[in-house]
Amino acid sequence: MSSDEPVSTGHLPAPSDVTRILAAGHQRYLELNDGQVADYIPALAAAEPDRFGACVVSSDGTEFDVGDSRHEFSIQSVSKPFVFALACEALGAEAVRSRVGVNATGLPFNSVMAIELNRDRTMNPMVNAGALATTSLVPGTSASEKWSFVVEGLSAFAGRPLQLDEEVYQSEAATNLRNQGIAHLLSGYGELWFDPDQTTDVYTRQCSLLVSAHDLAVMGATLADGGVNPVTGGRVVSADTARRVLATLATSGLYERSGDWLYDVGLPGKSGVSGGIVTVAPGKGGLGTYSPRLDEAGNSVRGQALTRHLSRHLGLNLFASSPLVPERPRDAGG
Ligand code: DON
Repeated sequence: MSSDEPVSTGHLPAPSDVTRILAAGHQRYLELNDGQVADYIPALAAAEPDRFGACVVSSDGTEFDVGDSRHEFSIQSVSKPFVFALACEALGAEAVRSRVGVNATGLPFNSVMAIELNRDRTMNPMVNAGALATTSLVPGTSASEKWSFVVEGLSAFAGRPLQLDEEVYQSEAATNLRNQGIAHLLSGYGELWFDPDQTTDVYTRQCSLLVSAHDLAVMGATLADGGVNPVTGGRVVSADTARRVLATLATSGLYERSGDWLYDVGLPGKSGVSGGIVTVAPGKGGLGTYSPRLDEAGNSVRGQALTRHLSRHLGLNLFASSPLVPERPRDAGG
């Protein structure tokens, strides 16, 4: 689709309303203490459970922050849609779709059973199997070339150079036998396009990049803004790539809870086990939230609650409409 084709979008409410609604939502869910901090990656267990920050970045580049919006944490699975976007941009969306797939698994993010049950194996770029396959596909003939491609691309989405959290990287690299196993299994099926151990290493690094809720909102706003970062003005991916990434998030961004998420929030979003969520309101802007207590599927509890609140009160749900034609009283005679 060329960028001059018509699109179906609107705009955020007035800035003073966004500020008020964001502050009210943050205040409302500060006392929500349900969920547990992830600890299967040992370094993540050190997160401060009470941290809570959020940011909205509109497609015109206006930034709205509340709470711990600049607190940094490792991006984890929230990296997946952005690496997928970069791979689609470099290789072509159809080439990536035919190798990675775009259908939901309905199973947890690190499911091995999903690989065995589905002949397409990887299923989609948001679960670990599909994300490993996507990382294996990115340009570069060595792990260091692939890593440079990923870190430069994710930094362009964020509009600033992102740094590795060395402690989280080392901690995950020392314990990620399951991801190594998934990469080897895919390789055995001929569904990985680079060395399995080196692919797992680049993927683990990509998950260990430090971001804040503010960064996630800028990254989301770039996908909301047809692939142009509204803060830097730089194009990161094409509008065509951006809309395809959002479609995969709608079906798979919150794993086996993706249906519940779409039912409640009505927007594409992506969560990560360190507590971040990015949500995209196409044409309007990006939302980033951070709070490390997670539900059983690995999604931030407060982040989901605040995003539901913002979607409703900022009028972002893609499926919501109100009648344009005034309702007529029913004719009593039928
Ligand atoms: O591969 C892993 O297990 C982590 N690096 C990322 C998982 C993740 O964030 C799942 N999200 N909810």
